[in-house]
Amino acid sequence: MSQPISKAIVPAAGLGTRLLPATKSQPKEMLPVGRKPVMQYVVEELQSAGLMQILMITGRRKQAIEDHFDADPVLLSALEQAGNETMLAELSYIQRGSRFFYTRQSSPKGLGHAVGLGAEFVDGQDCVVALGDSVIAAEDPAAPLRAMMEAHRALKAAAVVAVEHVPLEETHRYGIVIAQGDELSPGEPVLMADIIEKPPRGTVSSPLAVAARYTFSPAIFEALQRTPPDSQGEIQLTSASKLRIQMELPVYAWLFRPDQRRYDVGNFESYFRTFVDFALADERYGYLARQYIKAKAYEL
Ligand code: G1P
Repeated sequence: MSQPISKAIVPAAGLGTRLLPATKSQPKEMLPVGRKPVMQYVVEELQSAGLMQILMITGRRKQAIEDHFDADPVLLSALEQAGNETMLAELSYIQRGSRFFYTRQSSPKGLGHAVGLGAEFVDGQDCVVALGDSVIAAEDPAAPLRAMMEAHRALKAAAVVAVEHVPLEETHRYGIVIAQGDELSPGEPVLMADIIEKPPRGTVSSPLAVAARYTFSPAIFEALQRTPPDSQGEIQLTSASKLRIQMELPVYAWLFRPDQRRYDVGNFESYFRTFVDFALADERYGYLARQYIKAKAYEL
């Protein structure tokens, strides 16, 4: 029987150009969403899914990520002395037994290239890839990954890729999946017929977009090595997955359930939406955000 997946790669090397000037000196993965930076949600999701070895693919101007997950004895003892249990609990993500590893992608060669830098870390095992600029909102945010990992094991998959429905006029912004058969039910893995990275407008009729969470068998790294760069000089993870489909390997799409939603912070429109939804849902301060937005709505 295959070992349970324990390793995750978190690509966080993107330049964040669409979020300038907010990302001039800080990574987009460290933008706050409510009370936590994006990356903390991602790490907590991975920890809850039992993924305790986490490799972050970073780059220049990304040091804040390492600092955030580093133990900080001076801060912790100051909080302890002050008896600030609430804040100590907020920082417990540092001490959940995870091991963090870091490597850099020094030039923008694409998501596939970034993931490929994790080959030695993964060392021939199945792994998870979780994009560092996307947060899952759900009662249990780790439930989608847990279900994908279970499907990966049960189906002896080459890959399981999370997908979400997007409007057809937006398909050019995503990796788009063509599933075998007509219907994809939430939470039910379905074999892929094809996967295309950012198809030109109007060229696909499938609304299924690749949604930032993946499981892979280790052979993905060979596929990444054989994947040629695209016209922008980038190696795409989607293109490596396509090679696996062409080899008739079992690559599955897994659709989020209606109560599970992915938020990405890759541009201001979706970042604002993400921040507002998380602030409204915040268990401690959400009522203040709700009061404020209700009052504001009268003015609009
Ligand atoms: C990346 C992937 C794309 C995927 C998207 C959202 O694109 O290449 O396939 O649909 O993330 O998960 P990016 O948003 O980095 O351009």
